[in-house]
Amino acid sequence: DCGLGSVRLRGVVVVEVVCSDDSLSQFPSDGLPGNTTTLSIQSTNLSTITANHLQATPILKELQLYYNNLSTLPSDLLRAVPHLHTLDLTGNHLHFLPPYVFSHAPLRNLVLKINLISGVDADWLPDNSNLTWLDLSGNHLTAVPTALFQKLRHLKNLDLSHNRLEKLLAGALNPLSSLERLNLEGNQLSALDPSAFRNTPNLTHLFLQENQLERLPPTLLQGLHRLEFLFLNFNRLGHISNTLLEQLSSPWTSNHLWVAFSQNPWVCDKKVEDLWKWLQKNQKKAFLADDIRCASPESLKERSVMSLTDSELGL
Ligand SMILES: *[C@@H]1O[C@H](CO)[C@@H](O)[C@H](O)[C@H]1NC(C)=O
Ligand SMILES: *[C@@H]1O[C@H](CO)[C@@H](O)[C@H](O)[C@H]1NC(C)=O
Ligand SMILES: *[C@@H]1O[C@H](CO)[C@@H](O)[C@H](O)[C@H]1NC(C)=O
Ligand SMILES: *[C@@H]1O[C@H](CO)[C@@H](O)[C@H](O)[C@H]1NC(C)=O
Ligand SMILES: *[C@@H]1O[C@H](CO)[C@@H](O)[C@H](O)[C@H]1NC(C)=O
Repeated sequence: DCGLGSVRLRGVVVVEVVCSDDSLSQFPSDGLPGNTTTLSIQSTNLSTITANHLQATPILKELQLYYNNLSTLPSDLLRAVPHLHTLDLTGNHLHFLPPYVFSHAPLRNLVLKINLISGVDADWLPDNSNLTWLDLSGNHLTAVPTALFQKLRHLKNLDLSHNRLEKLLAGALNPLSSLERLNLEGNQLSALDPSAFRNTPNLTHLFLQENQLERLPPTLLQGLHRLEFLFLNFNRLGHISNTLLEQLSSPWTSNHLWVAFSQNPWVCDKKVEDLWKWLQKNQKKAFLADDIRCASPESLKERSVMSLTDSELGL
């Protein structure tokens, strides 16, 4: 059922065990070498894993448990693996997790993608957490887990995409001062607070596509001088302020910036002039620039904003 391999990576010997068998329903304790550093149990019927099971592999560094049948985890699960830095639980049925569940190992990467989680408890992690990567995408979250963020001062990557978030409260991201990538794609956000990103100056990737955003605060991007990817496609934007556009082409902005504005219902009245002018000058920064199209007025419907003439703009 399980395959064993050992490779040398950057001078470190990695002993990897991979188990993948859809009839496996018990933890494969037998035959796990004590020197295992990476364990993957994938696409099995495993529904229980305990601290006792992990005692067999005390120097484990990475534990991948993709697409199994786990619905919860014991609170002391990680006590036996004091070197574990990566835990990936993608594609299980996790819905409730007990306090301290991720507190007993020095985790840096935690992936809880594609589960049934509707609430995140700050008690899951220790106060001095060194987590740099947290992936909660594809769950049922309706609120941003602000209390948990208080513990995540080292977090660089946060993925909250494909949840049910409706709001990003002012200050919610403030503790995440090291954040570099934030993915909020595929939620139900309809507004953002002007200061939402005020304390995350190192953001390079900001994914806001597939939400219900109707307008953006003009100062939203103030201070985000490292931004390289800004995705706003598939929202409900009709207008965009000149202040915000100016930030996207200011001398302090990264030369590598890419912005996605397409698939929004742009209103091509006189106010679209700012966007039109910006596109003339910054076409290279706009991803799928020709697909930035007017939704109204009727006479300009489906026209590419860039292609509008002076007289159509009423200039
Ligand atoms: C999965 O495990 C459960 C018990 O945990 C068992 O009832 C079920 O038959 C197993 N399914 C498969 C496909 O082996
Ligand atoms: C790991 O343990 C197994 C069995 O105990 C042994 O055969 C193997 O040589 C060990 N590998 C390393 C890299 O220590
Ligand atoms: C998952 O485990 C439950 C029992 O915990 C069992 O009833 C169910 O059949 C399992 N799912 C699969 C796909 O085997
Ligand atoms: C985080 O890293 C610091 C410094 O390396 C260390 O003292 C602390 O114990 C770590 N925290 C956890 C929860 O492992
Ligand atoms: C932001 O990035 C710079 C350069 O990578 C780094 O020196 C600085 O510590 C980072 N700031 C925070 C708050 O992490």
